[in-house]
Amino acid sequence: MTIIFFKVVFIVFIVIALFGFFFTRKFLDIQYRFFSWYYKLAGIEAQFKTKSPAVIKTTSLIGIVFLCFFYFAAMEDFEKKNQNAAAAATEGQKTEVTETINLEDPDMKTVYDFLKKCETYYLATVENDQPRVRPFGTIDLFEDKLYIQTGKVKNVSKQMAKNPKVEICAFDGNTWIRIEATVVNDDRIEAKQHMLDNYPSLRQMYKADDNNTQVLYLKDATATFYSFGKEPKVVKF
Ligand SMILES: Cc1cc2nc3c(=O)[nH]c(=O)nc-3n(C[C@H](O)[C@H](O)[C@H](O)COP(=O)(O)O)c2cc1C
Repeated sequence: MTIIFFKVVFIVFIVIALFGFFFTRKFLDIQYRFFSWYYKLAGIEAQFKTKSPAVIKTTSLIGIVFLCFFYFAAMEDFEKKNQNAAAAATEGQKTEVTETINLEDPDMKTVYDFLKKCETYYLATVENDQPRVRPFGTIDLFEDKLYIQTGKVKNVSKQMAKNPKVEICAFDGNTWIRIEATVVNDDRIEAKQHMLDNYPSLRQMYKADDNNTQVLYLKDATATFYSFGKEPKVVKF
């Protein structure tokens, strides 16, 4: 919100300054039309009328240079603050996840926490009669469903469109999980935005309305937690 407001203010001022620079005469006329009451009131009407276009041109040019300088400095500052906030958010998520995971009586939230803790999981799809597998990292809990994210241009997306059956595998050093599920594409902007809000680094490559970003939720899922020497724990969602 702040950044949008800032950009709007910048655009308004830069348009005024550019107008003043390139259309100085017109600029003076408009200025006089709107502010003649003030010049009269302040008793500086005569002074205003003799204002030289060169003065306006120079003032506008100085304005343009200063506006650009402040704009780029402020943007750099916004960017730094954004990156710091994103890093802090990611750190926060990691700490929370490792502390609250309980594999004894797992549910969908346990699956989410476990995948978050692993950071990387492996997503298998089917292409004709050939399995395809690749590393994935995105996982989001939205409206009580577990979402993954990809780009529509990727082969993985095309494979899921043809055959939505997938399998996911991840290992945290002690326990591993295998999830079999059917993926369902969710084209709603709010589902995509929720994912991007949870992965600020993705925002460099994806936007909720870019026609490439894709989020899919897991349906008819069976997740099984395995550890050596322990009975597997199964959760369906
Ligand atoms: C650690 C890691 C995490 C990744 N996470 C994702 C992800 O969440 N979504 C995605 O689309 N690609 C992700 N990728 C990139 C995909 O693995 C890569 O684009 C892959 O080639 C896609 O599969 P495809 O070639 O069959 O389309 C990740 C890569 C790595 C190394």
